[in-house]
Amino acid sequence: MEFSIKQSSPEKQRSNCVVVGVYEGGKLSPAAQALDKAAKHALSELVERGDMSGKSATTLLLHKLPGIAAERVLLVGLGKAGELTSKASVEILHAAFSALNGTPAKDATLYVIDEGVGKDAAWVIRQAVFAAAESVYHADSLKSKPAKAATLKSITFATLDKPAAALKNILEQAAATAHGMELAKTLGNLPGNVCTPTYLAAKATALGKAHKSIKITVLGEKDMQKLGMGSFLSVTQGSEQPAKLIAMEYHGTDKKHKPIVLVGKGITFDSGGISLKPGAEMDEMKYDMCGAASVLGTMQAIAEMGLKLNVVGVIPTCENLPSGKATKPGDIVTSMSGQTIEILNTDAEGRLILCDALTYSKKFDPDTVIDIATLTGACVIALGNVASGLFSNEDKLAKELLAAGEQAHDRAWQLPLWEDYQPLLDSNFADMQNIGGRAGGTITAACFLSRFTKDYRWAHLDIAGTAWKSGKEKGATGRPVPLLTQYLINRAQTAKQ
Ligand code: BES
Ligand code: MN
Ligand code: ZN
Repeated sequence: MEFSIKQSSPEKQRSNCVVVGVYEGGKLSPAAQALDKAAKHALSELVERGDMSGKSATTLLLHKLPGIAAERVLLVGLGKAGELTSKASVEILHAAFSALNGTPAKDATLYVIDEGVGKDAAWVIRQAVFAAAESVYHADSLKSKPAKAATLKSITFATLDKPAAALKNILEQAAATAHGMELAKTLGNLPGNVCTPTYLAAKATALGKAHKSIKITVLGEKDMQKLGMGSFLSVTQGSEQPAKLIAMEYHGTDKKHKPIVLVGKGITFDSGGISLKPGAEMDEMKYDMCGAASVLGTMQAIAEMGLKLNVVGVIPTCENLPSGKATKPGDIVTSMSGQTIEILNTDAEGRLILCDALTYSKKFDPDTVIDIATLTGACVIALGNVASGLFSNEDKLAKELLAAGEQAHDRAWQLPLWEDYQPLLDSNFADMQNIGGRAGGTITAACFLSRFTKDYRWAHLDIAGTAWKSGKEKGATGRPVPLLTQYLINRAQTAKQ
């Protein structure tokens, strides 16, 4: 899908479809007013007749209006003026693209920026691009008859007044972010028998081939043994698939600048291991590599936009399966950091692969390290499917990530990393145990990771509730690619000043 932005008069716009807003109560948006005037009040008449209520996220498609150059006009309900929440704005954009995809229009011109659909112009552009991309996304690569490619190919965001020059840049960044989300969704939705650790490594290698700015290194199990990654290797023990540790180094600026390191959990299937999970919905544990997928998606996005920043993606990836060779509850392993871990539950495996990847990340002399993981079911209980859980050992970093989440409408919520929770990880036989009991499960998981991240500024995102949707809408969301990419864009911006 192509995106552009320009100033234009709605009635003169030669387009397959012009999209304008109508408020509840019948007030026309400025762009709708311009169309109404050119079409001899056809719009205000049909609003008066009750054909378009203006209720939030409703739509009405009109054909060949007199005096209007576009073939179609799509009216979109904006709800009550002054009551546009971010939730309503996103729903309105989704409704508009879903209606557009129901027409044969190849291109469309949207007047959504002037309406300020909720927030500032940059916010609206980002959400409109994400909604457009989402509306044509299908996870059907493995169906024998995949859906036909969408006809909608080109979107113009039009404004009545001259658009600010900075918006072009924001539009390009949003498009690159949407492409990154698409990659993350596609990888997430692939089943565990296709998307193996080897497959993820091949995808990373392909990304390195496509972008000269990214250098890929893939470590195998022998390399990890040499590095002393006893914790990571304990998780892959029951699997026939070889584990991989992928490093992706993106150089967007002088090498003297320390990189931001993103570490993504890449469990391509989590059965729980010997602490086997119950059967219901176990298929969804193919999504346990969505942290890794978000790192791949974010790396692709920043490479596509040529961001002037150094970033490293690190992906520890393996399967968690039971077998005669699998790690057993009670087993004690030595992590790369030298700390020993008593594995009381083999289903708390994410932290076991992440701790070694976090220790390994020190080799990049990082400015900041952020790990992203579908880490705990408890996070879904705490925050549902709306916010990702956020932890940090530096409050400024936490604030920056929360702000990036707001900007990209991919929000996180901070939880405490207080010392008071640490004793829950005490073990009688090793330096720590890998679980802290049911109470505060998301926090004790973060506390476990914090024991491996003392040498640098660090944040942890628990995306167990946000990386995919269950039920009828089952599918990966591409989150938190928008949050991560926005954070990196902001960091590149402050580095420039
Ligand atoms: N991948 C799961 C977390 C998860 C569960 C994410 C359900 C999304 C939905 C993780 O490896 C896990 O199994 N965590 C355990 C930890 C527990 C044994 C301390 C959990 O959350 O039950
Ligand atoms: Mn698990
Ligand atoms: Zn897991």
